[in-house]
Amino acid sequence: MSLQPHSTRTCAVVVLISGSGSNLQALIDDAASGGYRIAAVISNKPDALGLQRAQQAGIATASLSHLGFDSREAFDGELAQIIDNYEPDLLVLAGFMRILTAGFVNRYAGRLLNIHPSLLPDFPGINTHQRALDAGVSRHGASVHFVTEELDGGPVIARQSIAVNGEDDAASLAARVLVEEHRLYPRVVRWFATGCLRLEEGRAVHSELDLPTTTHSDE
Ligand code: GAR
Repeated sequence: MSLQPHSTRTCAVVVLISGSGSNLQALIDDAASGGYRIAAVISNKPDALGLQRAQQAGIATASLSHLGFDSREAFDGELAQIIDNYEPDLLVLAGFMRILTAGFVNRYAGRLLNIHPSLLPDFPGINTHQRALDAGVSRHGASVHFVTEELDGGPVIARQSIAVNGEDDAASLAARVLVEEHRLYPRVVRWFATGCLRLEEGRAVHSELDLPTTTHSDE
């Protein structure tokens, strides 16, 4: 499917969640001022709080539990069918806690974003806040990246960092990073929706801004 979110219509975004959906809420709030619309919210957890947030905002929802599937391929295939009903220009992972198959990732290549609670490429995977504390870093944060087959390894689009304090524990870090996520993700989604952001030859490119390189310098 070709991707022309900014030319002929308002960018349609489908959001995948697994839990609370606070990043989803930040996107719902941001989309209210126009520029993109959230066409649907889909969860692999039927009781995810984020589904209620979407319903309260009048957004279509669907849930598809991964538990009944024999393989990741089977689940991802069914998930893609549901997603494609909404004809998204952009697919946004917002706390979607599933590892995706290569087939799924490639189907949405260049229009699949994820937010991750660390300054990538540091701390891919889970338990990022505790691992950051254990490593003794002075700054920690969140990153938004294009999703590729490599877990949390796709081209970074933007990062937002905070200082780590001596009193921080994993919970306090998570809470402070989440506040930054809520600012960061809408900004990046809006870049994409307005046609400023694309994936080009394996790199994230913004038409007017220099985006971060693969390493970070505590930005
Ligand atoms: C966020 O911190 C997000 O970065 C993280 O899950 C949380 C979801 O919170 N995502 C990942 O760890 C993905 N690997 P939310 O449901 O309140 O948006």
